[in-house]
Amino acid sequence: MRRPIRIAVTGAAGAISNNLLFKIASGEMMGTDQPVIMQLIEVPGRMEALRGIAMELEDCAFPLLHTITLHDNVEEGFENIHYALLIGAYPRGPGMERRDLLEMNAEIFARQGKALNDFANRDVKILVVGNPANTNALIASRNAPKLSPSQFTALTRLDHNRAKGILANHTGANPKNISRIVVWGNHSTTQYPDLHHATILDEPAMQQISEEWYRSVYIPKVQQRGGEIIAARGQSSAASAAQAIVDHMHDWVLGTSPGEIVSMGIFSDGSYGIQKGIVYSFPVRCDYGRYQIVKGLEINEWGLQQMRLTEQELLDEKSAVNHLLPTATAASHEDLSICLRSGVTLYADGTGPQASSKYLTTNRVL
Ligand SMILES: NC(=O)c1ccc[n+]([C@@H]2O[C@H](COP(=O)([O-])OP(=O)(O)OC[C@H]3O[C@@H](n4cnc5c(N)ncnc54)[C@H](O)[C@@H]3O)[C@@H](O)[C@H]2O)c1
Repeated sequence: MRRPIRIAVTGAAGAISNNLLFKIASGEMMGTDQPVIMQLIEVPGRMEALRGIAMELEDCAFPLLHTITLHDNVEEGFENIHYALLIGAYPRGPGMERRDLLEMNAEIFARQGKALNDFANRDVKILVVGNPANTNALIASRNAPKLSPSQFTALTRLDHNRAKGILANHTGANPKNISRIVVWGNHSTTQYPDLHHATILDEPAMQQISEEWYRSVYIPKVQQRGGEIIAARGQSSAASAAQAIVDHMHDWVLGTSPGEIVSMGIFSDGSYGIQKGIVYSFPVRCDYGRYQIVKGLEINEWGLQQMRLTEQELLDEKSAVNHLLPTATAASHEDLSICLRSGVTLYADGTGPQASSKYLTTNRVL
């Protein structure tokens, strides 16, 4: 049996966590041979509800659940953690503008970034789920100068899974036979679900659907699925979000299956012309606990326009919170090559390991 790993979850008494914590404790996320210590964090007013969830976890008698600790502040809750799932966020209330939501959450995620910087394990892997997820990840990372931006990711796997599920339903294919879907951009209605590289049973997906259905039915459906679920359920998606968190972390830590592509919100390194310094959903492959952007996918003119649209929204979100971002971390977030955690330092001017050490010079985001 391995040594236990420490996983912090914020918003641990919320709807997503109610579905997620039991999956983590059963080994679905980190593997069925990996014991876990859960450091659960809530706002002070929800600690009693959190105690109830902890009792339920105990009552499942999960063999892999080593310890549960409960915290009403992130400084304690992030101590020595290897993984952080940042789910708790300020919800959008009636009459609230998007800008207000951005500002309220900017404070929460700035504090969380500082606490990760000061208290977490130096190799901590972070997934931001609370909305607006991409920009919250940016804020947290900009407040964590000792950590690499590549340690911060945002959840767009739910969009990726939705894109797969809806395509499976339309074509009658089993989701396991659908590969290489890409969701580009923001976790919002501007995201671009791209099927041009996707395959169904190894045949191009675009040859099995009509262009008309793809553009006027499929894309809006994936983009607006979150809203559709709220309208139907009266609550935002929780079980599918929990499943997407499990999938995102599982693949990041344990690797994507051979040939598969998944979508992750990560800091742009300039690939596909996307501006650096924002957290954008890219196609990635993972191995050895690292992710790498899949390069060289051909994008048509119309696709590029969609990618630019969602990029612009992220740039607008960034400028709305710009006054809250420390300037000291601006440069390190613009040039990822100076802060890769590969055990080797790659410098922006190209110095570093020799070209012969090819595997070291790969511009790999760790
Ligand atoms: N990225 C995605 O794909 C995706 C998908 C679904 C939901 N979301 C977002 O995830 C977030 C959580 O969703 P939910 O349905 O679980 O909401 P919820 O309201 O049921 O639960 C959120 C919990 O977070 C807690 N919380 C709030 N601020 C906190 C803080 N600073 N520290 C610790 N805990 C805090 C609240 O007390 C609450 O218990 C929302 O922002 C939602 O919009 C993202």
